[in-house]
Amino acid sequence: MRELLLVVHILSVIVWLGCGLYELFLTYELKKARGTNLELDLMRFYLKYSAPVPIATLLVAMTGATMAIVLDWGFFQQFWLGTKQVLMVGVLIIFASVIPPFIKLGGIVKSLPADVTALPEEAAVLFDRIEPWLVVMRIMGALAVFFAVFKFG
Ligand code: HEM
Repeated sequence: MRELLLVVHILSVIVWLGCGLYELFLTYELKKARGTNLELDLMRFYLKYSAPVPIATLLVAMTGATMAIVLDWGFFQQFWLGTKQVLMVGVLIIFASVIPPFIKLGGIVKSLPADVTALPEEAAVLFDRIEPWLVVMRIMGALAVFFAVFKFG
């Protein structure tokens, strides 16, 4: 049971941060392509393959909480694990606040007529508002890896 939970926990972290790094590269290209037809194509690509990151983030939280309960680690009992749990609470709060604008962004892009070749300003502004928070979540996830491996405290 422990091994299976830990495997899913660690694989989910790999997907969250690995896809997160890839999204960072895509965001760099998106910003470089601002106002060109390529911007809309890249945004469609970004949205099409965006689901694994939120799913993996939730899997990290769920497997982590299950391990904390089933393996008797508890919550906010050890410094290293408590810090990870605080980081995850922060990630989940940001997560809850970026999901609605992200869904709105997806809806704008999806509803564009086929002859539209540029990303509407409203969508670009929404993305610019969401994106820095995605980076903050990734940094918090990477920080949690250090606490998980070094088990400080
Ligand atoms: C915030 C993002 C998180 C990351 C990046 C992360 C990463 C990891 C990693 C890499 C390990 C393996 C460490 C090792 O075997 O040396 C681990 C173990 C563990 N994690 Fe997480 N974790 C996160 C969040 C959580 C949360 C929120 C909880 C609990 C609510 C949690 C509970 C645990 C437990 C209990 C273990 C140890 C299991 C054991 O060895 O028996 N993790 N985590």
